[in-house]
Amino acid sequence: MRKLVTIGAGLAAMAMLAVGASAQQPAKVAPAVVDKVVGAMIAKASPDWQKRMEQDEAQKLCSEHKNELPAALATQMLAAQKKTVVFPADGNVMGDWKNGARIAQNGRGGQFSDAPNAVGGGNCYACHQLSKAEVSYGTMGPSLNEYGKIRKFRPAEAKDAYAKIYNSMAVFPCSNMPRFGLTKALSEQQIKDVVAYLFDPESPVNK
Ligand code: HEC
Repeated sequence: MRKLVTIGAGLAAMAMLAVGASAQQPAKVAPAVVDKVVGAMIAKASPDWQKRMEQDEAQKLCSEHKNELPAALATQMLAAQKKTVVFPADGNVMGDWKNGARIAQNGRGGQFSDAPNAVGGGNCYACHQLSKAEVSYGTMGPSLNEYGKIRKFRPAEAKDAYAKIYNSMAVFPCSNMPRFGLTKALSEQQIKDVVAYLFDPESPVNK
């Protein structure tokens, strides 16, 4: 019994400490300090992994402005990011929607537990609804259900979707969506397959 009382008193003291801490203003930490701490956390990772922690110019700007760029900077960023999009040489952005469905569902790739040459996925369902038949999906991004149908399957809009998936920041500066083509998380063929998943009239996304 005495032990229980002691634990209870300890918890109460901790709760009070927590209240005290949350009432304070968050301390300002210099970005260089954050970089150092994060770098130390992955110091034993391979150089290839460590490189992933380095922000490119666009990411640095987004961090600096807490993802809310002043209009002039946003316009500049869109122009610069648009230039990074590499379209398929033959201009055809539509692949195989059935493979696209698998890529949209697959959240693996680039993880410690993945085999080095394992083919990664796009994990689109983590953030988007796509097919109505799938009940498990995240809502960070808008629903993409009937994405192609709503756009009357227009080829120009399929091309825009390819650009969006290749580099989300070419369409929306400081987007939370991964830049799949730019970071090589998805290959050209995989992006085409996902575009077909969005734009093929036979795809369950458009049913
Ligand atoms: C980490 C979350 C996340 C993931 C994963 C993600 N997206 Fe997104 N996506 C977003 C957010 C947030 C937006 C809205 C803001 C924006 O446009 O960047 C968005 C926007 C979009 C849009 C534009 C929607 C419109 O309004 O026209 C398309 C198309 C899209 N995503 C497709 C995909 C596809 C395909 C995948 C998988 C290959 C994917 N997304 C993976 C977060 C994500």
